[in-house]
Amino acid sequence: TWTTSGVVEEQIALVRAQVGDRRAICGLSGGVDSAVAAALVQRAIGDRLTCVYVDHGLMRKGETEQVEKDFVAATGVKLKVVDASERFLAALEGVSDPEQKRKIIGREFIRVFEQAQAEIIAEAPGDQPVEFLVQGTLYPDVVESGGGTGTANIKSHHNVGGLPEDLQFQLVEPLRKLFKDEVRMVGQELGLPEEIVQRQPFPGPGLGIRIVGEVTRERLDLLREADAIAREELTAAGLDREIWQCPVVLLADVRSVGVQGDGRTYGHPVVLRPVSSEDAMTADWSRLPYDVLARISTRITNEVKDVNRVVLDVTSKPPGTIEWE
Ligand code: XMP
Repeated sequence: TWTTSGVVEEQIALVRAQVGDRRAICGLSGGVDSAVAAALVQRAIGDRLTCVYVDHGLMRKGETEQVEKDFVAATGVKLKVVDASERFLAALEGVSDPEQKRKIIGREFIRVFEQAQAEIIAEAPGDQPVEFLVQGTLYPDVVESGGGTGTANIKSHHNVGGLPEDLQFQLVEPLRKLFKDEVRMVGQELGLPEEIVQRQPFPGPGLGIRIVGEVTRERLDLLREADAIAREELTAAGLDREIWQCPVVLLADVRSVGVQGDGRTYGHPVVLRPVSSEDAMTADWSRLPYDVLARISTRITNEVKDVNRVVLDVTSKPPGTIEWE
């Protein structure tokens, strides 16, 4: 029979057998899957695992700190954080096209990751080789990508666009037999904090694809504030489990007239996109209580400078996607 502790023990033994006395690295995205995979491998091989977290500056409020503090505190994992926000913003300058944004973010991510990897090797060149890459691949991912196994079987939409095909690593994928809810149970068993284990999905390209228009530092700051307010209110209303996720989107190239105090404003709208879903393949818009919507709207327009309108997206998927880009 399936037990969480049984799965954990079995996977720890398998990882030990696979990695032996060599070393591994793992990219952390802030998401559940990579966090649980990292925690599991860390249990198996300890300090011979190094985690790499690339901060692209497109994260939500508090997310980087959550990885830096909470995740390390819970696991004792060896973590390398790379602050690459300048680099990502520079690469995104002047770009509004969604696909181009995704490509740029994916490309920069790979470059930074490879650089970090080279540094890890250079820091202790005498040690055992770094031969393994830990991935939080789940069973649905395996099915989606054709069920193959090997060294470069990374689904293209994984996190920030996937790691390069020619990456010379063997993959360690301790979650490849599990579904999402089982992964959350394994995470709990490994002592990961609730905020990480119960986290809703968040796209690898982050807030970069939630700004319709060019991505700038100022716009990111606006969106980060609005998003934090929406999340805070949804959590306070006890709706986190009920909704799948609620992207907050800044329509940076749109302005509308408003009035605040005794002045006319000409600010940007933000869109709330609460959805319910089983697997993100299809989704319906969530019928959030009006009073919760009202609180979010009042707070965002009061607290976020330059945002003077909050609109609700009532489109199902299809025809709309969950994200706007
Ligand atoms: P869409 O917008 O295609 O999103 O309906 C479906 C689900 O996937 C998430 N998403 C991503 N996740 N990297 C990710 O790891 C990405 O590039 C990416 N794009 C979308 C989205 O948040 C939703 O849960």
